[in-house]
Amino acid sequence: MKDDRLATTASAPGKIILFGEHAVVYGRPAIAVPVFQVHAEATIEPRADERVEIDAADIARRYELRAAPPDDPIATLIERTCAQLGVAPRGFTAHIRSTIPVARGLGSGAAVSVAIARALGKFFATEDTGNTENKRLRDLAPSAAGLSIGDISALAYEVEKLHHGTPSGIDNTVIAYEQPVYFVRDQPIESFRVARPFLIAIADTGVASPTKIAVSDVRRAWESDRARYEALFDQIGAIARDARAAIERGDVDALGPLMNANQARLREIGVSSPEIETLVDAALRAGARGAKLSGAGRGGNVIALVDEANREAIERALIEAGAARVIVTRVE
Ligand code: PMV
Repeated sequence: MKDDRLATTASAPGKIILFGEHAVVYGRPAIAVPVFQVHAEATIEPRADERVEIDAADIARRYELRAAPPDDPIATLIERTCAQLGVAPRGFTAHIRSTIPVARGLGSGAAVSVAIARALGKFFATEDTGNTENKRLRDLAPSAAGLSIGDISALAYEVEKLHHGTPSGIDNTVIAYEQPVYFVRDQPIESFRVARPFLIAIADTGVASPTKIAVSDVRRAWESDRARYEALFDQIGAIARDARAAIERGDVDALGPLMNANQARLREIGVSSPEIETLVDAALRAGARGAKLSGAGRGGNVIALVDEANREAIERALIEAGAARVIVTRVE
């Protein structure tokens, strides 16, 4: 039989959490924005045989779907996405590439999941093998390519659970929707207006920090002193609420002190590190209006609020202080 299926490609951005990490796992609000300077990309390429192969070139791994362990995130995502689309996973290679550094709080896991789900949705919506089931799917949902944004976010969330037991869902949400989100666990997603754009420098400590470890350490600490941790989470939640209001009224001046206040609470929670503190200090000394860790902490990235006028000086100061790299992103 002639194989008319076309290779499909899709991508997904990285993300940063501006306010509210960790407390968001405990029901407080957090704010996250997509970062388009980095991205994950997936290409689904048809193959002549029935096999499904995963080609994760960045981590130099090429393996078959059926040989993957049950907790393999990419294999799980492929299986669940195909189940959602009502098709059997067979006869394609999934090529995955990403420019998002792994375990640095930039959402690399969720971005890979979203890119693959999008590419699979397109692949099965455009294929024309004469298979009536696939034809039916394509005819039913040609524009949505068989999956809604909500479906894609939910599929990525299932995989986030493999990365760490109790994900809030913020990563998959901001990456699937590709817009600033005010996120409260188990609540419908809320976007909000950025009244005045602002610049954030993102500086990599160079230290990989798996989210799972930081999140489970925080859980243990919370279990041993709930009153203290609940109070810290409340304070962080209030900071995230104030930050949303400031962003909506275009009050960029208010954001720096809120970032510093958030960082002070993250330090108390126990998720800062010497590398983070060094970069926070360097950014503030060079004129940043506020700085904090972003994501799980212990390593990963530091974010700093910068201006057009001082961004280059701050980028230089961050590199001199040991940042592995610095990206500047505009939040708008
Ligand atoms: O994936 P990361 O490193 O950005 O961490 C996510 C933020 C946490 O609040 C620490 C965990 C979560 O699930 O929200």
